[in-house]
Amino acid sequence: MRDPDIWQALPMPALVIGPDDRIVAANGPAEGFLNRSARALEGAILPALLSVEGGLANVVARVRARESPITLHDTALRIGTAPDLRCDLHLAPLGGDILLLISPQDVAARLDRAEQSRSVARSAVGMAEMLAHEIKNPLAGITGAAQLIGMNLAGEDLELTELIVAESRRIVKLLEQVERFGDHRAFECRAVNLHDVLDRACRSAMVGFASRMTLIEDYDPSLPPAWGDADQLLQVVLNLLKNAAEASMWSGKITIRTFYDMSLRVRRRDGTDGAVPLQVEIADDGPGIPAEIADNLFEPFVSGRENGTGLGLALASKIVHEHDGWITVDSHPGRTVFRISLPRALTDLKSDAQRVEG
Ligand SMILES: Nc1ncnc2c1ncn2[C@@H]1O[C@H](COP(=O)(O)OP(=O)(O)OP(=O)(O)O)[C@@H](O)[C@H]1O
Ligand SMILES: [Mg+2]
Repeated sequence: MRDPDIWQALPMPALVIGPDDRIVAANGPAEGFLNRSARALEGAILPALLSVEGGLANVVARVRARESPITLHDTALRIGTAPDLRCDLHLAPLGGDILLLISPQDVAARLDRAEQSRSVARSAVGMAEMLAHEIKNPLAGITGAAQLIGMNLAGEDLELTELIVAESRRIVKLLEQVERFGDHRAFECRAVNLHDVLDRACRSAMVGFASRMTLIEDYDPSLPPAWGDADQLLQVVLNLLKNAAEASMWSGKITIRTFYDMSLRVRRRDGTDGAVPLQVEIADDGPGIPAEIADNLFEPFVSGRENGTGLGLALASKIVHEHDGWITVDSHPGRTVFRISLPRALTDLKSDAQRVEG
């Protein structure tokens, strides 16, 4: 028996599913969540309304067969034609029926987790920055000395000094990346046409690391300007393009898509929440993110590549969050999609230009 008070007091959407997979009851939050009245929901066939990978009917059948609850964590739930929503789903036997509780993944909780990892990152990077500073000077000495010695050498001996110089340069590059990560300068934000940023990134990628890649641009020409620092956003896009090219062994297909989606909101750094409707997706057809690093992808020094420093995505995440934006990834073998969601500028490009000039 359902206690009507407890049933309605549940803070999350809850449905009772009958033996024929039809909805028997829906509480108030479920009405709001599914945008239909309880009366309209009752009698509806559940799998026609909601779907998850592998089919919701299969999960219901499993709960029935096992007579014990099943929880699906962080599952992509599809409601009709709306974009997937990440949710935890709890299914439990209830008399002859099944109780389905839906807890949409709280964006704030996700942000909290991300903020925690960023503060760990900040201290790790602070340390690395200090080291970077200390190592760069003696390294310059070592490189100079190796070059001097090399001037009087030939053959295998010369190769050895060249190796010292080349490896030292690689270390300097790494240190510079660490220093860039710790760059605390304030961003110069203004209204930014994201398509200009993407064009700049594509042009520089095509003459360099992506010269053998196929780049497909699928832009929404009506996308309004973002509020951001174009150079910093360029850095984010370049890091994502480079990763996509690397994963595809420098010769795959990258699709860059832009579109507008008002449904996503995030908590800003000042504690208020705001819309991040401008979406940029960078998709590749490479092998996908290695499972062992997928959970910590945006943390510094996490890399799945032999010579990777693991700073590209950490830097991208830092920049996007400092724009009060959001970065996510969805990856399977054959398709990896990074999505950046950004706030729009309050002014349009023209009036912002006037403001800058004035
Ligand atoms: N599009 C992608 N497809 C598959 N794996 C990816 C993709 N993007 C990132 N990765 C994985 O995530 C790891 C971390 O990426 P990140 O850019 O942070 O560091 P990195 O590329 O290893 O080093 P760098 O600091 O030079 O960028 C990569 O090493 C790679 O294993
Ligand atoms: Mg990288």
